[in-house]
Amino acid sequence: MAVAMYLAMAAAVALLINGATSDGTSKYTNHTVGDSAGWFFNSTTNKTSTDYSAWAAKQTFNLGDYLIFNTITNQTVIQTYNKTTYDSCTMDDALDSDTFQYGGGSNGFGETLTVPVPLTIESAQYYFSDADDGEQCQHGMAFEIKVGHGLGLPPSLNQPPPPPYAPPPVPADEGQSPPITVVTTPSNNGEMRAGASICWLVLLLVVMLSFLQA
Ligand SMILES: *[C@@H]1O[C@H](CO)[C@@H](O)[C@H](O)[C@H]1NC(C)=O
Ligand SMILES: *[C@@H]1O[C@H](CO)[C@@H](O)[C@H](O)[C@H]1NC(C)=O
Ligand SMILES: *[C@@H]1O[C@H](CO)[C@@H](O)[C@H](O)[C@H]1NC(C)=O
Ligand SMILES: *[C@@H]1O[C@H](CO)[C@@H](O)[C@H](O)[C@H]1NC(C)=O
Ligand SMILES: *[C@@H]1O[C@H](CO)[C@@H](O)[C@H](O)[C@H]1NC(C)=O
Repeated sequence: MAVAMYLAMAAAVALLINGATSDGTSKYTNHTVGDSAGWFFNSTTNKTSTDYSAWAAKQTFNLGDYLIFNTITNQTVIQTYNKTTYDSCTMDDALDSDTFQYGGGSNGFGETLTVPVPLTIESAQYYFSDADDGEQCQHGMAFEIKVGHGLGLPPSLNQPPPPPYAPPPVPADEGQSPPITVVTTPSNNGEMRAGASICWLVLLLVVMLSFLQA
C-alpha cells in the first residue's frame, strides 16, 4: 500500500519536473518551407521545386511557431492576411496593415538567404513570391496555412502589455504632511525560492519515512 503511494508520489514529482515539454504537441515548431526542397522557382521551366500547398497541408501550425524559408534573392517572401491580395499575386494594391514583405535588403540576384517568419496571429494566412511580376506565384509559389492557438504566443513574441491604469493625482488636503515613499527591495527573492525547494525536500522526506515505517 505504502509502496504504491510512494510510487504514485514519485511519478507525480517526475511529471512536475519534466512538465509538458516531453510531449511533441506542446512545444514550438520551426517548419522548413518545402522541407529540403526549400523555396525555389526555376524561371526557365516555370516550375516550383516542390508542391507548397501539399507541403503546407501536412503540417500543423500554431502560435509561436516559425516558417523558415531557405531561398535565394530571385524569390520573395510575402505574408498576407488578405485573400484578395493573395489571389492577385501582387502586393501593389495591398494595405500596410495586412501584408508584409520579409527578408533580404539585397537587390542582387542569386544570393542565398534564410528568412524566419514568426506566426503571431491565430488565423488563416497566406504566403507567396511576387517576383517576376507575379509569374512565380501564378505558377505555384504560393500557399495558405491556418494557425491554431497551441501554447499561445511565447513572451519573446508577445507585445508588451499596456501600462497599468494609474488614477489621476488628487490635490492634497491642506495641512496634510507629504506622503512617505516606502522603498521595497526584491532582495529576498532568492530566500523565498530556497524556502520553496526546502518545502519539497520536507515533503519527499515525509513520503520516504512513511514508506520506511510500512
Ligand atoms: C526557430 O527559428 C527561430 C528564428 O530563426 C530561432 O530563433 C529559434 O531558435 C528556432 N528554434 C528551434 C527550436 O530551432
Ligand atoms: C531550370 O531547369 C532547367 C531544366 O531542367 C535546368 O537546366 C536549369 O539548370 C534549372 N535552373 C536552375 C536555376 O535550377
Ligand atoms: C514560362 O512563363 C513565361 C511567362 O508566362 C512564358 O513566356 C514561358 O513560355 C513559360 N515557359 C515555359 C517552359 O512554360
Ligand atoms: C484586402 O486588400 C484590398 C486591397 O488589395 C482592400 O481593398 C480590402 O479592403 C482588403 N480586405 C480586407 C478584408 O481588409
Ligand atoms: C536568378 O535570376 C537571374 C536574373 O533573372 C538569373 O540570371 C539567374 O539564373 C537566376 N538564378 C536562379 C538560381 O534561378
